Amino acid sequence: MSSITQKLVSVEKVTESKIDQVDFDNLVFGKQFTDHMFECDFIDGSWQNPTIKPFGQIMMSPAAKVFHYGQAVFEGMKAYKDDNDKVWLFRPHENFKRINKSSKRLAIPEFPEDFFFEGLETMLNMDKDWVKKGEGNSVYIRPFVIATECGVAAAPSSEYKFMILLSPVQAYYKGEVKVVIAQSFSRAADGGVGAAKAAGNYAAQFYPTNLAKEQGFQQVIWTDANEHKYLEEAGTMNVFFRINDTLITAPNNDRILDGITRKSVISLAELEGIYVEVRRITVTELIEASKDGSLKEIFGSGTAAVISPVSAFSYDHKTYDLPKIDDSYASRFKSKLMDIQYNRAEDPFHWRHEIK
Ligand code: COI
Repeated sequence: MSSITQKLVSVEKVTESKIDQVDFDNLVFGKQFTDHMFECDFIDGSWQNPTIKPFGQIMMSPAAKVFHYGQAVFEGMKAYKDDNDKVWLFRPHENFKRINKSSKRLAIPEFPEDFFFEGLETMLNMDKDWVKKGEGNSVYIRPFVIATECGVAAAPSSEYKFMILLSPVQAYYKGEVKVVIAQSFSRAADGGVGAAKAAGNYAAQFYPTNLAKEQGFQQVIWTDANEHKYLEEAGTMNVFFRINDTLITAPNNDRILDGITRKSVISLAELEGIYVEVRRITVTELIEASKDGSLKEIFGSGTAAVISPVSAFSYDHKTYDLPKIDDSYASRFKSKLMDIQYNRAEDPFHWRHEIK
């Protein structure tokens, strides 16, 4: 391994890339990682030694607080390659701001912006051959922070590790998505950590989602924890409803993740003159709209899937099918977002960020 020092981030390169061992036509989402990873530790009150090093195991005490109290947050981003081999990020400052917002809620010290961007951009340059061209291909970027202090006292850790992993992925197409509307389980509660990308929010979804799968549904639409009356999120995504030609999505609150794809869809819809209502929507309203034929679409929005259309929903053991429509908002916004992400279209909001 050779060692060179950048401005802030030190770099230790692999001697030999493992890229030739990877079958890029048959990737399983999030299973394969590029040659390098970024690592930085919070010790003695400051973030220290940001380093890019060969992807590999990390050594940690089994008493590290992350294992006992789940003090951990993460982000999801993607890097795209255009036809001229340029690599692009999509609204990366939003992810940076959000991971620090999540950290603050979990009593984790905020991460410095210069370490984040120099680490990420340097590593993407080093591993740029892993970003493949073509529709749906990208590198999924997983920044995360974990509490590493050894000790099982229930108090915030005094030490942390911030890491970034890069994973080459293909389109996150899961086929038809049928969802169950939650009537007893909740994803998040008022005043809780729902708005943070906290690791535990995702773990808490696994059991109810497994129950939904046993009934032939792939995801759960989460409702408010108090009354299970308002529709809030879909699986790991934000959720949109199209009633006639109006697009409706729940307003952000402390239970709902401030989704970057969500707010991009809202901006694109408004730019196209589509009427968007950011307001609470009830299960009753959804069922009425389904019965009278005004419910045209439901779709989820998130980094991994971009836009994921829902084909049916179930409530109180009754299933309601969504109509099959041409020129759906879901496919329209998916294409528009991907055209911007892959540098194939104008970028009216200046969302693209080139890796130079
Ligand atoms: C996203 O799409 O935004 C996610 O967070 C997906 C991830 C949990 C795989």
